Amino acid sequence: MEEVKSFIDKHKDRILGELFDLIRIPSVSADKSNRDAMQRTADYLREILVRAGADYARVMPTKGWPVVFAEKIVDKKFPTILVYGHYDVQPAEPLEEWKSSPFEPEIRDGKIYARGADDDKGQLFMQVKAFEFMHQENKLPCNVKFLIEGEEEIGSPSLKDFCENHKELLKADVILVSDTTVLSLDKPTLTIGLRGLAYFEITVVGPNRDLHSGAYGGAVTNPGNALSELIANMKDDSGKITIPGFYNDVEPVSDEERRLLNEVPLSDSQLMDSIAIGELFGEEGYTTIERLGIRPSLDVNGMWGGYTGEGAKTILPSKASAKISMRLVPRQNPDTIEKLLYRYLEENVPPGVRFRLLALHGGNAYVAPWESREIRAAVQAIERTFGKKPLPVRSGGSIPIIAVFERVLGIKSVLMGFGLDEDAIHSPNENFPLSNFFRGIETIPWFYHYFAEG
Ligand code: BES
Ligand code: MN
Ligand code: MN
Repeated sequence: MEEVKSFIDKHKDRILGELFDLIRIPSVSADKSNRDAMQRTADYLREILVRAGADYARVMPTKGWPVVFAEKIVDKKFPTILVYGHYDVQPAEPLEEWKSSPFEPEIRDGKIYARGADDDKGQLFMQVKAFEFMHQENKLPCNVKFLIEGEEEIGSPSLKDFCENHKELLKADVILVSDTTVLSLDKPTLTIGLRGLAYFEITVVGPNRDLHSGAYGGAVTNPGNALSELIANMKDDSGKITIPGFYNDVEPVSDEERRLLNEVPLSDSQLMDSIAIGELFGEEGYTTIERLGIRPSLDVNGMWGGYTGEGAKTILPSKASAKISMRLVPRQNPDTIEKLLYRYLEENVPPGVRFRLLALHGGNAYVAPWESREIRAAVQAIERTFGKKPLPVRSGGSIPIIAVFERVLGIKSVLMGFGLDEDAIHSPNENFPLSNFFRGIETIPWFYHYFAEG
């Protein structure tokens, strides 16, 4: 398998050329008018998978954006790895903050800059190229299937049905995903958990029009004030979420796992420097890595209402809204959280205003058992190419479909990503270091090897 390095050397330009062509198609899933780009991205991936050695690849329609499926069956008796990834990306806005055009990839300081360079086109492409290598060398010790969706960034609304309708097609022994991070190439980590997600829009509605803030101010409830008060009271000074019942289902984490998690050398000061802040804040009694991985969170994602234009306008808004995300941990259920939030709002909304609650995304957390065949194989693979055993981490991010895979298909996932927290995914100037990209291509074949070995 050492030959993978020469494979990379020999095909570097072609591999990057193919990846850049994938990135150039602006597959923003949130844009409902983006049918052409979404279809072209799926078609392009289909072609790439066939060229890489799949027996066949097809673009399959769903209620939303299409899914790409491919497979290479070497021997029915071999174990089967199902590779999952997503070809959709987040919107590129704000465009003026990009140093180079988001859909025209550029290499600067050894990093690919573009929307999707990491999340998830770059990472997904490592999987395709690792498969291509194994196929070319006639070294496949397992069957390989690919399931690539176009709706991850909008909460995978069609993929659950797709799984329910294609259980036989998706049959596999393990799901392999490159859509997470390592701490660094010198300090490898392996993600064994993802947080769940409950995402809401709250609107507080008051008078039937914006009011003169002199003629009415002080005599009526202001929806803007009411909304901020409702939100402010969702957390206390120690960083605990105060919505009654919020922590009821939170699974306690053993002292041993907490000890292990804290061995990950995540540096608070480096973290602060990288985002230009002077202080961190989070739930009392937990370290940063615990606050991110094993504790739930609640955050405003956006707030609006009343006058937000230039200068001052003396009004009291007729309504005000906020988008709020909560990251959940194992056993917390987004539907339960919605009920608790609804009750909290009902009990605390001040007189003179009403509220509306809209649930947008929902998904369950995921955690992989450290002592399992598939995690062992991932640890061995990473140790092989990084020269060090990875430490287990629970990521703060979410890939809601991973819990669905377990529930609907009964298959566990290995989250073997090679991105960095600094890659600015979802932000302007998203990037992916070439060294991480190539390290990924190098490592994945070893996962095939060790997993097939058992
Ligand atoms: N690849 C990310 C998830 C991720 C980010 C995992 C960082 C580990 C570290 C994924 O594409 C993503 O952005 N997920 C969304 C899910 C949502 C849109 C339903 C998220 O976490 O916000
Ligand atoms: Mn992703
Ligand atoms: Mn993402």
